[in-house]
Amino acid sequence: MPRPTPGATPEVLAPVRRLPGRLTAPDPGWSVTADVVVIGSGIAGLTAALRLKEELGPEGGKVLVVTKDRLAAGSTRWAQGGIAAALGPEDTPAEHELDTLVAGAGACDPEAVRALVTEGPAAVHELIALGAQFDRDPAGELSLTREGGHHRDRIAHAGGDATGAEIQRALIEAVGRAPEIEIIKRALAVDLLLDGPAGEGGAVAGVTLHVMGEGQRDGVGMVRCRAVVLASGGMGQIFSQTTNPVVSTGDGMALALRAGATLRDLEFVQFHPTVMWLGADSVGQQPLISEAVRGEGAFLVDDAGDRFMQGQHELADLAPRDVVAKAIMRRMMETDRPHMWLDARHFGEEKWQRRFPTILATCRSHGVDPVTELIPVAPACHYASGGVRTDLWGRTDVPGLYATGEVACSGVHGANRLASNSLLEGLVFSRRIAAVLPGELRPWSEPVVDARTAGLVPGAVRRGLQDAMTTRVGVLRNAEGLAGVTDYLDGLAATPADLVDLDAWETTNLLTISSAVADAATAREETRGSHWREDFPERDDAEWSGHLDVIMRDGETTCAFSPAAPSDGEVHP
Ligand code: SIN
Repeated sequence: MPRPTPGATPEVLAPVRRLPGRLTAPDPGWSVTADVVVIGSGIAGLTAALRLKEELGPEGGKVLVVTKDRLAAGSTRWAQGGIAAALGPEDTPAEHELDTLVAGAGACDPEAVRALVTEGPAAVHELIALGAQFDRDPAGELSLTREGGHHRDRIAHAGGDATGAEIQRALIEAVGRAPEIEIIKRALAVDLLLDGPAGEGGAVAGVTLHVMGEGQRDGVGMVRCRAVVLASGGMGQIFSQTTNPVVSTGDGMALALRAGATLRDLEFVQFHPTVMWLGADSVGQQPLISEAVRGEGAFLVDDAGDRFMQGQHELADLAPRDVVAKAIMRRMMETDRPHMWLDARHFGEEKWQRRFPTILATCRSHGVDPVTELIPVAPACHYASGGVRTDLWGRTDVPGLYATGEVACSGVHGANRLASNSLLEGLVFSRRIAAVLPGELRPWSEPVVDARTAGLVPGAVRRGLQDAMTTRVGVLRNAEGLAGVTDYLDGLAATPADLVDLDAWETTNLLTISSAVADAATAREETRGSHWREDFPERDDAEWSGHLDVIMRDGETTCAFSPAAPSDGEVHP
């Protein structure tokens, strides 16, 4: 069916689904106020909090950070490879822009990419000034490496392969030097409080939290506020195998969807090509083997020792992530093997220790010595390229709600995020939010009685949901598998919870996001970036240039297509 042209009315492409319009929760037992609440404490959340506090000034308003666990429990600290920016003497933002657009397979927002790459270098220097210590060469210059899809060495790294941990450390220390930023830990953001109907202009008036602690703020409470910045990370736990930590249950995306925000590009779940394979039964967070290992010369081989990436792409083992993940999967299917191998034995002990000490220790802890042995690897869920749709300044469709980092879809990643652009996105777009939010802070408003239909599914369905998503909405998808999974998820949505607890809240969020991902993946009948349909194996710009948007109104979701011009300048049949 021909698609409408850019700017035309979105075309609804999936059946309406019925999910909870809000999470069942007890009435708030405590209350606090803050002008701005930042939900999340990774690079995006803490950068937003620090910059907002600076922009608002001492009298300008209170900033409160809410985090689901400890400050360092999110995805940032697990980032290994580094942070991409045109920092090298020969590099330019224009080259970084081109690599980002090509990796994004025609689905990026060019203006957002331009903002990312031009503001990136200054943002990284600001992080350094804040205290983050990146690795340097003997001359004292930043040591830069390469990852998939980059045509230049532009990945700054720290502690060899502990970049995220160093950035997280520096940001936590900086927040520690700003005691006026209040922090509530071990708090799940349950739902937004709105001053009008969700999806019909209702603006942020607060947020309900469930605090797992002791003392005055235990249990469900509310924060009355004038704006919320969502920086709550991704949703990798919708799959049974992911590089994401256990906290990545899509809470921010689900909360935003219920409140009337649009989720965009959800079908573009990125599967990292080289996740250490620990066996078919291994579930939950799996060890990442950074792309930087290939950037430093490691290569993929099959059981017969064939370097199968050669000849597949001009960058061979350093092709963009979607290309490598697909090549690994194809070879796995051709040879009927559950994984391929990464060979970095030639690094020797010294280079492994110096460049990749964390990965070396992880491999050894799982009984593989990469100095002498091949590392078993297979693709696994790594990153949500889509999320809560924002404009160039982090604004969502809900007045007073902003989003940044993995939870957001700012348009920089398109159909396949370029390696190491994720930390950069959090940094750049949190700075952008802080630049505009103080000037557009809304007056205090009263929450209305929440008319959305409450619901909850039991935590016991989580494991089945993750297995179904992995089997049918994983790297390789087809219409039959997707139809099976949407039926299965509809069945789960009709299963009421008998307990109101964290497991049920998280599982309901996982179900909400899984349904949206499955609908978008079903609707997009082509292969593009990280969305691979075996029944529609080609990219199809004539039909599918544009975005799939999921919205919810009182628990009913719809998935619609909004056309847009392709952004990588390539013409595909
Ligand atoms: C990696 O180190 O391979 C992951 C980096 C990223 O996800 O950008």
